Amino acid sequence: MRAVDLIIKKREGERLTFQELDYLVSGFVEGEIPDYQMSSFLMAAFLRGLNYEETKYLTLAMIKSGDLLDLKDIPGIKVDKHSTGGVGDKTTLVLVPLVAAAGVKVVKMSGRALGHTGGTLDKLESIPGFRTDLSLAEMKEIASKIGAVLAGQTANLVPADKKIYALRDVTGTVDSLPLIASSIMSKKIAGGADRIVLDVKVGSGGFLPFVDRARALGELMAALGSEFHRKTVIVISSMEQPLGLAVGNALEVEEAISTLKGNGPGDLLELCLVLGGEMLAAAGAAPSPEEGRILLEKLLKQGAGLAKMREIIEAQGGSPEVLDNPDLLPRAAEQIELLADKEGFVHWINAREIGWASLLLGAGRLRKDDNVDPAAGIVLRKKMGDAVAVGEPLAVLHVNRRDNLAEVKERVKKSFVIGQDSPQLPPLILDIIY
Ligand code: URA
Repeated sequence: MRAVDLIIKKREGERLTFQELDYLVSGFVEGEIPDYQMSSFLMAAFLRGLNYEETKYLTLAMIKSGDLLDLKDIPGIKVDKHSTGGVGDKTTLVLVPLVAAAGVKVVKMSGRALGHTGGTLDKLESIPGFRTDLSLAEMKEIASKIGAVLAGQTANLVPADKKIYALRDVTGTVDSLPLIASSIMSKKIAGGADRIVLDVKVGSGGFLPFVDRARALGELMAALGSEFHRKTVIVISSMEQPLGLAVGNALEVEEAISTLKGNGPGDLLELCLVLGGEMLAAAGAAPSPEEGRILLEKLLKQGAGLAKMREIIEAQGGSPEVLDNPDLLPRAAEQIELLADKEGFVHWINAREIGWASLLLGAGRLRKDDNVDPAAGIVLRKKMGDAVAVGEPLAVLHVNRRDNLAEVKERVKKSFVIGQDSPQLPPLILDIIY
């Protein structure tokens, strides 16, 4: 087999076999197929598409590139949750302890911030002492003992995705449904959970602008899940504005703590209850998602999610005192209010721009090895539908470095679209696919 023949075959719109896709993926991971040939193949796949069989084969070839985690020695059904990425999306920090408090085991492997979207690992690491670089043995031990663990991906989980994603990022080939589906599902299946709940984001803050494409992606991922005997539920949710109010690492941890104490923003709580209800039902811990939700609401009121978060932080070497005193989290030197110069109602908040502005303050990273500032970020004071008067704060910037401040102010201000009439708000949950 030669890579060039397979590139030409795809370029001509022909279908590739498992052996051919596996040859490309394993050859690329082993360094025998160079970046330029893989890039060319990815572009051919992007333009010509991959049919369902090819997507399944690609997913399998990616899984085969690394370890398949065996979580069987953790008793009970393990559920995983994944979001396609957004701005202000701290659901994992609320959901994992809450679902574990209901008795369902969660082994959650998360990623870091890249581009305008945040990453759960960076958020967790703003908790003093918190370790995310756990070995597989440590993850299993913590999950068996307390029911949940929040860690980084182990080194050899789908190495093909790490390499291929890095190329897709710089070759204009991210936005392809079969490539996205195989990237996400290979990692989820190799991660070893029995049930998977995926939150597919639609809107400016995610990377899929339209619900039809999100639904098609959801259907594809649900089909791949059942192909590999992992029951997969897809929740399609709106990312037309940041989720909750806080954007930035320590700021989001603080908001997640408030939510676990019962004082969180409505949209964040609602999404957590919907996703959590699905996780409980998928694991058989509730007869239906609705009953799962009721159970989670009860646990939240009892403080059981907060207590479980304390156990997780202690088990992973962090300071649980941040739960009692969030002032122990890193704080920025300056807090700068941005005031409205127009009255009316907030019609839209450009979540992507808020994400970029937060990154420019230091909360995110442009390159994989950039450091993040745990304290930097933005807290919204107004959300879509809120009335606003001239001189009222729209948002507060949490600032340590001022080098991009003028641009950040401009971007945040422009992100708020203010109109005269009270707008009709889009639903938070757009669809659920089983
Ligand atoms: N997230 C992933 O893990 N992979 C993609 O391709 C897109 C989003």
